[in-house]
Amino acid sequence: MSAPAPARGKTGVSIKRTEGPDPGVEAIRAKDPVTIVIFGASGDLAKRKLLPALYHLHAGGYLPERYAVVGFSRTPLGDDAYRESMLAALREQVKGDSVGADHPIVQALHYQPGDADNPETFRDLRARLEKIEKDCGLPGNRLYYLSVAPEFFPLILENLAAAGLIRQKTDPTWSRVIIEKPFGTDLTSARALNAIVGATLDENQIYRIDHYLGKETVQNILSFRFGNSIFEPLFNQKYVDNVQITVAEELGMEGRRGAYYDGAGTMRDMVQNHILQLFCLIAMEPPSALEAQAIRDEKVKVLRALVPMTRKEVAANTVRGQYGMGEKNGQVVKGYRQEEGVDPQSCTETFVALRMKVDNWRWAGVPFFLRSGKRLAKRVSEIAVEFKQPPLHLFRYLGEDDEIVARPMSNVIVMRIQPDEGISLSIACKQPGMRIQLQEVEMDFFYGEAFHERSPEAYERLLLDALRGDASLFTRSDEVEYSWRFITAIHEAWANLPPPSFPNYYPFSDGPDEANRLLEGTQARWRPLREA
Ligand code: BG6
Repeated sequence: MSAPAPARGKTGVSIKRTEGPDPGVEAIRAKDPVTIVIFGASGDLAKRKLLPALYHLHAGGYLPERYAVVGFSRTPLGDDAYRESMLAALREQVKGDSVGADHPIVQALHYQPGDADNPETFRDLRARLEKIEKDCGLPGNRLYYLSVAPEFFPLILENLAAAGLIRQKTDPTWSRVIIEKPFGTDLTSARALNAIVGATLDENQIYRIDHYLGKETVQNILSFRFGNSIFEPLFNQKYVDNVQITVAEELGMEGRRGAYYDGAGTMRDMVQNHILQLFCLIAMEPPSALEAQAIRDEKVKVLRALVPMTRKEVAANTVRGQYGMGEKNGQVVKGYRQEEGVDPQSCTETFVALRMKVDNWRWAGVPFFLRSGKRLAKRVSEIAVEFKQPPLHLFRYLGEDDEIVARPMSNVIVMRIQPDEGISLSIACKQPGMRIQLQEVEMDFFYGEAFHERSPEAYERLLLDALRGDASLFTRSDEVEYSWRFITAIHEAWANLPPPSFPNYYPFSDGPDEANRLLEGTQARWRPLREA
């Protein structure tokens, strides 16, 4: 699926940097001494994301003066062996920095072997935590990070509670739990999980993570909308024609992920969480304050305006895709059904496109187009807000068949989440010459050019917020349930529709052509991925 690319000129814009007061590290660092307990301690996430995040937080001075990190998982290991394996992983991740075994983060690591389903090992964990905390002068504040498969979430929570490892709200020290995705697989399971989690923890002790919310450019959506006065008045059905949210990946299953992915599909893996979060941020009303409750209240309101689709609406407004075999640079690339861990007859979608309507005052009648997929032409995540065309086409010129034509042009604001992080605004401009002819040009802001400081990784920001007790960038129980309500209705309708004819798109393309059907009757065109 591709649309003809508009000819584009580039306009340089000068970026005026506002030197606001620097809040300083001291104001936002985590102050309470803490013990961080990682379940799934030797897993991929711990190695690739969590430890490097702690390393950078330490380097930036954001961690409290005293802290310990305790890894818990099944592999029988001692502290030294754990430190060694984490040190090797850390060195790979923070290339360029030479990290020694005496680095404070490495020294802060401890390891406690145990089984998520064995209460006995949680009693051992408790004894071990108390010993470490006594030795290190830590008061017993604990951040538990559940970086494990979702079937272990309830078991771990029950066993933590049974071993007396969860503090009550009234205790002088705190317990918080970060829960990784996926949070449920449909509305019923998400509700059940919320009930289990809620039986053990107070909502303000729960940090359901969605790493997209930790990305700088995602946080900038609210800054852009509500920190400027010129755009927000236009963000509504009077001026906006359509909104397009794309999260495309070039990667396929890359070996290990096939088995998980085959049970999930793009809708569960990307749309229910990351993409609906992007939707919330671009569509929500301004919160009354930049704090967790106000932000999450507004997100819930806009999710409630996504009325679940009927079966007929699902057939008309969703398109599923799955990549087939192909070739890139002379190399054969496996189709999804040939990937390791994937059922050779699989009907799991690796691409999805949706047309959504938002039933509220601001957005009534404005279609929101969402698409996401694996093995697409380019890795690109962006939100494009396309404005309505001018009411009168004043600028007409002689077209190919000597007809007087007006090239339809609309302004588009594109927020590039990744890569080439930035924001662009396309405007119509008179092309130099004797004739009056308009050309689309872009005003472009690139993060990399305007700012020279390092952008923190999503997990750094989210870990710091959890250590500080700020849940603004984490999802609340009702938020998760409303997003599942919308997604589950689509899954239920799909289950009753004839199975799609897969595979239906070529790897490294823009996805199935059928996705164009969703745009019929609108001025929208899918933005070509290679150009994005
Ligand atoms: C994860 C999904 O949540 O997000 C992956 O499970 C996906 O399938 C990843 O690749 C994308 O994250 P990012 O930060 O690379 O855009």
